[in-house]
Amino acid sequence: MTAATPKRMHLAAHFPGVNNTTVWSDPRSRSQIEFSSFEHLARTAERGLFDFFFLAEGLRLREHKGLIHDLDVVGRPESLTVLSALAAVTDRIGLAATVNTTFNEPYELARRFATLDHLSAGRAAWNAVTSSDAFTGENFRRGGYLDRSERYTRAAEFVATARELWDSWTPEGAPRPVAHRGRHFTVEGEFTVPRSPQGHPVVIQAGDSAEGRDFAASAADIVFTRHGTLEAGRAFYADVKGRLAAHGREPDELKVMPGVTFVLGDTDAEAEERAIAVRRRQVSPQNAIAALEQVWGRDLSGYDPDGPLPASDPDPGAELVRGRVRQGDPLAVAARWRALSREKGLSIRQTVIEATGRQSFIGSPATVAAQLTEYVAAGAADGFILVPHLTPGGLDDFVDRVVPLLQERGVFRRAYTGSTLRSHLGLAEPVWKG
Ligand SMILES: Cc1cc2nc3c(=O)[nH]c(=O)nc-3n(C[C@H](O)[C@H](O)[C@H](O)COP(=O)(O)O)c2cc1C
Repeated sequence: MTAATPKRMHLAAHFPGVNNTTVWSDPRSRSQIEFSSFEHLARTAERGLFDFFFLAEGLRLREHKGLIHDLDVVGRPESLTVLSALAAVTDRIGLAATVNTTFNEPYELARRFATLDHLSAGRAAWNAVTSSDAFTGENFRRGGYLDRSERYTRAAEFVATARELWDSWTPEGAPRPVAHRGRHFTVEGEFTVPRSPQGHPVVIQAGDSAEGRDFAASAADIVFTRHGTLEAGRAFYADVKGRLAAHGREPDELKVMPGVTFVLGDTDAEAEERAIAVRRRQVSPQNAIAALEQVWGRDLSGYDPDGPLPASDPDPGAELVRGRVRQGDPLAVAARWRALSREKGLSIRQTVIEATGRQSFIGSPATVAAQLTEYVAAGAADGFILVPHLTPGGLDDFVDRVVPLLQERGVFRRAYTGSTLRSHLGLAEPVWKG
């Protein structure tokens, strides 16, 4: 590749639902469950020629001190149903649903994704996550609770079984019997759905452990990651791309797409100001105490969010929060937060704002376009899953103001050239094993 042909990027839109980045207090916020919200974001992303629209999954309302977590009180709908409805009001954009491999069955899920691929004329994608904890498992007696090592064994067999089913019809359009007998699944008989337009829906992977990364290298087309900074992104990128050869795959066969946030302004200074205001809304005084309680493992409602951090250490064994991933060893996190607060003279709320992440890309449209281009050129990403902070209008400005600049730079498409998600991603159709 020469300097005259800059590397192109892929873009996806993450629906801002019950993430801790979503700002619900903004007067422009709309429902996270009414169809019009999904439709607005998907159509906006399609207007911006994005590769795909993405839905996360939460299988149980999270709890904080025995109460439903603030962000979850509004609930969340089931993703494949939402995407089926979106298939009818969009033409080209890919439609990706996160669905776990721990509490489902491959025959049923392969059927549903193949059907979505037919309904959307080749635009379906599946983010195959393991998402198992005992708390979530209480909702799924048959799926049960799998410990860590078994989760990815099951996930790998799950995706392999789905692929056997997707491959099972002949090119002449006749079903052939499938006989799968594995450790986790037995499938005997014909598949109900003919070969779908993409052959196999696009498979995404999102776990970050070594097992998760190997699973991505062996079975996924895209890896969705949290490593959104330039340095961490490059290290992650090199790591997962380096795992592909062992599975007989080329580096281009797996696209690395970090989830990233952004704040735009007319100038860089205005964007910085807005970003500070957004962070203060994301971390309200009440959210700051909740974040502190999550680390310290005990009730800290008596603390002043504008005052100092607790002097005592966290209780590492306490389970105050259920259904959320912990941020690491509580003692280490507390030590880091205390050091930060001491060093910069920060209150509880200011420490949480500072420690729990800022927006990934902040600036004028020109600055953000330049930064995104630099990340891709530097080998930190093949593209981005953009996480707006407003439902559903949070992508409007990006599409209107940043996408044209990316096109001018020659790093983003000016039109869709194919009709399937695989073609947007430059991925070959899987070989039909006859
Ligand atoms: C960027 C990213 C997004 C994820 N999104 C979801 C999600 O929407 N629903 C879910 O149940 N798990 C989600 N997960 C969790 C993973 O599927 C996985 O269960 C978890 O990270 C544990 O696997 P690990 O130990 O390999 O990281 C996500 C993980 C990452 C890194």
